[in-house]
Amino acid sequence: MHDNSRRKFLKQGGALLAAGTLSISVVELAFGKGSEDRFTFAYISDSHITQIKGNRFVRNWDRGLIRAVAEANLLDPRPDFVFYGGDIAQLGKPEEIDHGLEMLAGLRGKVHYVMGEHDYYLDLGDYWRKQLGPDHYSFDHKGVHFVVLNSILTHENWMHRKWDSGMDRMKQMARLDNPNGQPFMVGDTQRDWLKKDLEKVSKNTPIVVFSHSPLQKIYKGWNFWTDDAEQVQALLKPFDKVTVLYGHVHQIQTNQIGNISFQSAMATAWPWPYPATYKQQASYMPKLTVDMNRADPFFERDATGWQFIDVHSGRVDVNYLLPDNTNRTVAFDEKAGHPVDTKYQAEVNRIPPQKHY
Ligand SMILES: [Fe+2]
Ligand SMILES: [Fe+2]
Repeated sequence: MHDNSRRKFLKQGGALLAAGTLSISVVELAFGKGSEDRFTFAYISDSHITQIKGNRFVRNWDRGLIRAVAEANLLDPRPDFVFYGGDIAQLGKPEEIDHGLEMLAGLRGKVHYVMGEHDYYLDLGDYWRKQLGPDHYSFDHKGVHFVVLNSILTHENWMHRKWDSGMDRMKQMARLDNPNGQPFMVGDTQRDWLKKDLEKVSKNTPIVVFSHSPLQKIYKGWNFWTDDAEQVQALLKPFDKVTVLYGHVHQIQTNQIGNISFQSAMATAWPWPYPATYKQQASYMPKLTVDMNRADPFFERDATGWQFIDVHSGRVDVNYLLPDNTNRTVAFDEKAGHPVDTKYQAEVNRIPPQKHY
């Protein structure tokens, strides 16, 4: 992106942010000063479109996605593409996937998709794949190698065990705390594929990986977790610059493990709370994210959002656009060697949460 257009982008983005009208995330990638290759893409995730009956759907979740699509279409300059981070549906029903895709069809430009567990466990992804194609693939864009993984698979014997119905299986996995569920994983087949895919990529090519669950272990009780995360990380280790972008957690998280930066996306549907056990399980979360200011659970869009992503120098800055809330930018800090919240990293700058009784 030219410097001029970059300024324009930020200016307009800033104006929209100030007006509090945006609810998506934008990711911007850039490759050094004056580089033509700097670019952005938008990232929308976790809409959880829920069918009530027939053509009636939960309005609040519809509104979150409609808003993100409308705002993504207003971005100027245009993002190079849009990425959808998974969980289009709530219970994986074709009606829910269709209704979500109908709304997403309003997006201008190319959309890439990753599969979420809510899209998968009813029919093991059959309908999703019929509509959207393969669940893992890679592509190159302006010098960056992008990889999409289906990270929400689990043990074959659990997936194929004798369930009363696909819906029975889906409901086990749709819970946040799923005592009868199973940990997510990428699995042998995709890890073999990834190994081969990366063999043809030079070590100084920036890599951006999209997954639905975090490719790191955060909290197993809520499946903020990928069981073979270390094995996937080992495949990414030889590369200079790697960023993993994931949905699923419905909250802002950042982390750095070796050369790999991790950043999450906000949901357009609802926020998940922070597990209290983050503090007890410090070893699982080396760098705690700055908490979201989640003031009012009765505010329809509070603590939801979308993001636009700026890719530069092979690093990723995530700009979180949070309706009814203060927007946030988490950017890779070369000096610190990990992503930091550009405004709220220092405790003294944080806005105390409101208390509601
Ligand atoms: Fe989700
Ligand atoms: Fe999910």
